[in-house]
Amino acid sequence: MVAVAILAAGRGTRMKSDLPKVLHSLAGRSLVERVLDSCSLLDLDKQIVIIGYQGDKIKQALSHRQEVEFVEQTKQLGTGHAVQQLMPHLEGYQGDLLVLNGDAPLLRPETLQQLVKTHQTEQNAATLLTANVPNPYGYGRVFCTGDNRVSHIIEDRDCNIAQKQNRRVNAGIYCFNWQKLAESLPKLSTNNDQQEYYLTEVIDYLSSVMAYDAEDYLETNGINDRCQLSAAYDILQARIKNDWMKAGVTMIDPDSITIDESVQLEPDVILEPQTHLRGNTHIATGSRIGPGSLIDNSQIGSNVTVLYSVVTDSEVAANTTIGPYSHLRGEVKLGESCRVGNFVEIKKTTVGSNTNMAHLSYLGDATLGDRVNIGAGTITANYDGKQKHPTTIKQGSKTGSNSVLVAPVTLGENVTVAAGSVVTHDVSDDALVVARSRQKEIPDWHQKNNQ
Ligand code: UD1
Ligand code: CA
Repeated sequence: MVAVAILAAGRGTRMKSDLPKVLHSLAGRSLVERVLDSCSLLDLDKQIVIIGYQGDKIKQALSHRQEVEFVEQTKQLGTGHAVQQLMPHLEGYQGDLLVLNGDAPLLRPETLQQLVKTHQTEQNAATLLTANVPNPYGYGRVFCTGDNRVSHIIEDRDCNIAQKQNRRVNAGIYCFNWQKLAESLPKLSTNNDQQEYYLTEVIDYLSSVMAYDAEDYLETNGINDRCQLSAAYDILQARIKNDWMKAGVTMIDPDSITIDESVQLEPDVILEPQTHLRGNTHIATGSRIGPGSLIDNSQIGSNVTVLYSVVTDSEVAANTTIGPYSHLRGEVKLGESCRVGNFVEIKKTTVGSNTNMAHLSYLGDATLGDRVNIGAGTITANYDGKQKHPTTIKQGSKTGSNSVLVAPVTLGENVTVAAGSVVTHDVSDDALVVARSRQKEIPDWHQKNNQ
């Protein structure tokens, strides 16, 4: 049996924020949510979040997670005091208790799984996650006898100069035998620099206690201020990008690229500099995205190119090229082998295959068939100031440069629209439509007007 308790009652003074620290967002998810998600591989009997400072806000932010229970720590007297609040709540509980600092958002689920497994096979009273870090400043130092047996933990501010040399730090991630922990919690003192009840003091009363080193020490990073929050974003990004590169994605200048965790990429995708992939985006094999593109919540087929463009909430089929400087504003579905070119904006529009719109157009609330050619500067006038109206352009049709299609309007199959037309009525299949005034020439007009 395993239960988890997350320490989230502190204010996080060093963040200099009105928002409780654990509600600060890291790449789209709050710190406390990330900590909860790091338990995803464990079969948990209970999930408890210990709240205090602005606890209602934390409750509200986690209200969609019905399995989470809250325990209140009304005064924040230290991490040990926070865990003491669990005693009435967990009375008679016979399993293990995982205690996680709410400000450690970089833990991998596999690491927690290994920690619990080690704890259970070794039958320890406590097993804690540790790491040897290059800069241990601010962390509690873990002192071990041989064989990873922990003798005690000393907080950075309570260490003497020699003790500060120890680079093995406490990650604030522990697995306890609850019964043994419950017996030790009443023994905590406030005999330290901050005069708080430190959870780390229980190590002095428990045996045996074992340290489990994280394979990647960056996982143990805690967030205490905004610099560490920003560093954590970089660590997450490096992790995501390395995983995709190992899975067969090429990245040119990865430092300039950002990718959300929710994005899915196939092998042989190429990401060029300054490309940002967000939300529920999937990109199929052979596609080349960037330089300078943003793809948000969109499905991109294979062998698509997107150059200096923005694609939001849209679907693009295979072999289509987008950009430079195109904007798919949402609810756009492009068929195969289409071409969307310079300064083309598309909204709520479905397009067949082999259709081109290469220059300076706006298409909104439109349905285009296959093999349509949209001439430079074609505009769907879809909004009458009150309502949006649809435009339909059937297969094989061509619009001349600078055509305005005043919706609602339908062009049949194989229609040709003369350049500069303002089309206000439906056009039949195979017709040429000319909707502009005939050119008039007045001879010698210059001389007559300059006498
Ligand atoms: C703590 C550990 C330190 C470890 C570090 C890892 C202690 C005494 N020290 O230090 O050994 O290296 O984490 O990041 O535990 N909290 C409460 N109630 C309180 C105080 C804190 O719920 O009364 C919560 C905070 O909201 C936070 C977590 O506990 O999520 C850790 O508190 P923090 O003050 O950041 O501890 P550190 O000084 O970083
Ligand atoms: Ca901390």
